[in-house]
Amino acid sequence: MEKIRLFDKTFKLFIPNAEIEKAIDEVAAKINKDNEGCSDIPVILCVLNGSMMFTPALMKRLNFTCELASIKLSSYEGTTTTGKVQELMGFTTPVAGRRVIVVEDIVDTGNTIVTLAEKLKEHKAREVKICTLLFKPEAYSKDVKLDYVGLSIPNAFIVGYGLDYNEVGRNFEDIYVLDKEDTSMKFYVIFGPPGAGKGTHATAMAERYNLHHISTGELLRKEIAAGTELGRQAKALIEDGRLVPDDVVIRMIGQEFKTVKGVNGFLLDGFPRTIEQAQVLDDMLAKIGAQLTAVVSIMIPDDVVVERIRYRATVEGRADDASVEIIQHRIDTYHQQTEPEIGFYKEKGKYHEVSGIGTIEEVRDRIFKLVDTF
Ligand code: AP5
Ligand code: MG
Repeated sequence: MEKIRLFDKTFKLFIPNAEIEKAIDEVAAKINKDNEGCSDIPVILCVLNGSMMFTPALMKRLNFTCELASIKLSSYEGTTTTGKVQELMGFTTPVAGRRVIVVEDIVDTGNTIVTLAEKLKEHKAREVKICTLLFKPEAYSKDVKLDYVGLSIPNAFIVGYGLDYNEVGRNFEDIYVLDKEDTSMKFYVIFGPPGAGKGTHATAMAERYNLHHISTGELLRKEIAAGTELGRQAKALIEDGRLVPDDVVIRMIGQEFKTVKGVNGFLLDGFPRTIEQAQVLDDMLAKIGAQLTAVVSIMIPDDVVVERIRYRATVEGRADDASVEIIQHRIDTYHQQTEPEIGFYKEKGKYHEVSGIGTIEEVRDRIFKLVDTF
């Protein structure tokens, strides 16, 4: 097939199966050579789900005695505040004292490989070799050595032969790349201190540019109102002006990206709120072949924050608007944990600031004038 359609995206043929098979022949030949006459039984470690196609193809070409084991890792769902890759299923066989050949479908940033290498060390593997079908040299920034590489490819978003887009597309025998004509989705972050007007202007922006507005604050308040377990956990933190744990909001955002269709893009309000969340957002977008379009930052000084939120308290009655002490806590949390994102996004050339002082209409016009340029 020349093109495939997965959810909202079109992918075109990139690496035909014959080329993949040839690369596997070459990798297998090298591994066979390195294991010639070995007296131990190495572990072939399949990293699920991505290498569920590559591992059997490789194994049937290996001519020495070896044992298959698997591990399942997830690169962002459930990511903790440390930004670590999460283990969904541990080693299915003990690795202590043994030689392990890790079989990966793809190495891009290298986060998974680093986590795995650490885990294997912790579990006392005697020797670790990394084998990957695909490698993105432009995206790789780690020092873990890759011992066997099938094909080096550019930093593009691909699916097929075990690789997925939101868990589909793994079954195709060829590898496909995202069709360039299909990459028009916009991803905006609306940024600013509490009460800057993020919610106010996000509503107007979402309407004008047909964006899906995601406010993590609103989502959390809905959970609280519905009395869910998540809501119960978040309530005390929010009403103290503190942040809820990163993994909670990350899961909520991931869910929204998966389910919403028929829009020209997404507008994130109240997320990311920490550098860790910003890094996870980058990873999430890379995973769906996208990148952040821009951060639209609305700036007001702290005294205006207090004034505006005190006013809103008389209209909306939000629990975290109830006292000057809580508002001050939220301002402190913003300065300590959220403000550092400004530098993070400036460095990436994504940060765009407008003054939040003036009437709502004046600020809105500044924002529209800016966003019209993207
Ligand atoms: P969230 O709901 O995001 O609160 P916030 O960031 O404190 O921002 P606000 O919603 O208070 O203000 P806004 O900028 O939207 O301003 P608005 O448009 O309403 O988060 C709440 C809590 O949830 C957090 O504290 C945290 O605990 C948790 N949370 C959320 N996301 C999280 C995450 N990612 N990680 C961890 N925890 C998370 O405007 C304010 C008022 O001013 C309104 O009354 C408006 O009408 C008025 N106004 C706006 N513009 C003007 C203007 N130009 N002139 C006059 N009045 C104006
Ligand atoms: Mg808001």
